[in-house]
Amino acid sequence: MGYQAVYDRAKRDPAGFWDEVAGAIDWDSAWDRVLDASNPPFYRWFAGATLNTCFNAVDRHVLAGRGEQAAIIYDSPVTSTQETISYAQLQDRVARFAGALRDQGVGKGDRVIVYMPMVPEAVIAMLACARIGAVHSVVFGGFSARELATRIDDAKPKVIVAGSCGIEPNRVVHYKPLLDEAIELATHKPKRCIVLQRLQEPGELIADRDTGWAEAVAAATPAECVPIAATDPLYILYTSGTTGQPKGVVRDNGGHAVALHWSMGSVYDVKAGEVFWAASDVGWVVGHSYIVYGPLLAGCTTVLYEGKPVGTPDAGAFWRVIEEHGVNVLFTAPTAFRAIKRADPRGELLADYDLAGFRALFLAGERCDPDTLRWAQEMLQVPVIDHWWQTETGWAIAANCLGIERLPVKPGSPTVAVPGYDVRVLDEDGHAVAAGDIGRILIKLPLPPGCLPTLWGDDQRFVESYLSAVDGYYLTGDAGYLDEDGYIFVMSRIDDVINVAGHRLSTGGIEGALASHADVAECAVIGVADELKGELPVGLVVLKAGVTRDSTAIVNELIALVRDEVGPVAAFKHVAIVERLPKTRSGKILRGTMKRIADGREYRMPATIDDPATLDEIKQALAAIGYAKRG
Ligand code: COA
Ligand code: AMP
Repeated sequence: MGYQAVYDRAKRDPAGFWDEVAGAIDWDSAWDRVLDASNPPFYRWFAGATLNTCFNAVDRHVLAGRGEQAAIIYDSPVTSTQETISYAQLQDRVARFAGALRDQGVGKGDRVIVYMPMVPEAVIAMLACARIGAVHSVVFGGFSARELATRIDDAKPKVIVAGSCGIEPNRVVHYKPLLDEAIELATHKPKRCIVLQRLQEPGELIADRDTGWAEAVAAATPAECVPIAATDPLYILYTSGTTGQPKGVVRDNGGHAVALHWSMGSVYDVKAGEVFWAASDVGWVVGHSYIVYGPLLAGCTTVLYEGKPVGTPDAGAFWRVIEEHGVNVLFTAPTAFRAIKRADPRGELLADYDLAGFRALFLAGERCDPDTLRWAQEMLQVPVIDHWWQTETGWAIAANCLGIERLPVKPGSPTVAVPGYDVRVLDEDGHAVAAGDIGRILIKLPLPPGCLPTLWGDDQRFVESYLSAVDGYYLTGDAGYLDEDGYIFVMSRIDDVINVAGHRLSTGGIEGALASHADVAECAVIGVADELKGELPVGLVVLKAGVTRDSTAIVNELIALVRDEVGPVAAFKHVAIVERLPKTRSGKILRGTMKRIADGREYRMPATIDDPATLDEIKQALAAIGYAKRG
């Protein structure tokens, strides 16, 4: 069947479609209903069924004769190590660590925070949770102690599993002191921390609270897979929203396993035994779905890469990994390719490698600019597929589904809606706009399996954030348009979320950090265009009356403050001190207009502006720090 036929079938009869697809997963007991729509706007997939996600991702492949096949290839240029873990070895290591968690009293429904760098133990910890029905919440290592504390207080983990350190090309990141500080800051205290002591920098263990990973595992007996309700949570992953308080996106077990397994074949066109590499981090949704669960559910080999696209050691790193490990399909963010292109514009390093088995490159995480797309196509001579999705959906909303039918690529578009998603572009009143007109992008309910059923502990925020804009629709938070062929163009966010090197950040969160500085009266953060990272946050700050301190010192303090409170990943390095911020007469800060000024784009004087002169002042202040250049 071609794309249109599959899409139409999924739209006409979602329950029938996913019922068939679900046959690829091993269930402990069958569902009462494929889709439980008895309590809208809450929908549940495979209600009444039980399964174990870890069994489906690991054990069943061993039973099916894949025990000797590589499950994980760990490639770490930053530590000069490599390790191949077979499915049989993975089963053993996961079962033992699950036993170690169980020894700490962790059971079904208990939360476990995983704060680890890109090492196999991070994947093992996630799968071990799934094995015993515990709910993992992985926190990205580039976040600060305060961000970690916020997540500890929301998820209330019984145990935290952490690495002692992370390795960035320019420094060792001290995870253990960050963990200690976060626990100090948090109101909720975990019962125990299990710390993976890395050779590069072991952490100091706190008596009666911390145990080394090796000791915890040595004392444990392997734990078996436990049947889990399809509708029970597998994990919580926090993502940035409009406010500084992150949203705890919940993923269920059943719908997730079904959708991700299906996506491996239908979207990415990979089969069991092939090598899939998502060059991301386990702390992001891409890492959850396509470093860990997707490839393993499908019986593929997944590559776990602890390094960067450039600088570890050079811009040929991705080609080396593809050749060395026989990667068939690579998934990364456009920013990684922009970094490679900048370092090696003619792709000369490619000549050193043989990419014979390499079939396709998938890009997501941010809008893929046509220049980057064309460069990657020219260099690699394989299909380059932009696809669009978000933490909330867990898998692609729009893509060129290579496993169904390869459609023509239109640069700037992630192609068409993936079967299961009914994507609409609507105006403020909820009416469809004409082809080519920009509007808010929404998805008609029910969302397909794998998408978030709710936010952790907060059904109300779930409904308010996503389901209240138009009755019966999920609000993606993105704006864009559909062309006459049904191709989707995702242009920008409609909220205060910005995208820095494929990382999703809340300007509200950065503003919160700036506002906590003693000299700051008011502030605004905008995402300005950046050639490498897509967007970069820039702060505009009004000082309190009477502050006479040196402004350079204040700027440096503000940069350090954001690094400390939000984390280095925010890449916050630019602040302009201004006399006042441009506002509407009702007091709303004109962030959109400031962004256009910063980017050197045309802007219209907003009719509701309180004092037009403020825009000239802002322009000068932004020009003084290198922005607001027309061109
Ligand atoms: N732990 C601690 N710190 C981290 C970290 C981690 N896991 N990951 C990043 N950081 C730090 C970096 O060291 C850097 O700190 P610095 O200010 O001291 O240099 C800062 O956070 C920003 O990191 P990063 O976004 O990686 O920027 P970079 O300038 O080091 O590299 C790219 C730029 C484009 C090479 C890089 O962003 C990249 O590889 N992106 C790939 C895209 C990606 O993985 N997207 C995820 C979603 S698909
Ligand atoms: P995250 O939840 O971190 O994956 O970020 C999701 C957001 O990143 C989306 O809502 C979009 O704003 C943006 N995004 C992701 N992929 C794409 C894409 N292919 N094209 C345009 N924007 C994208």
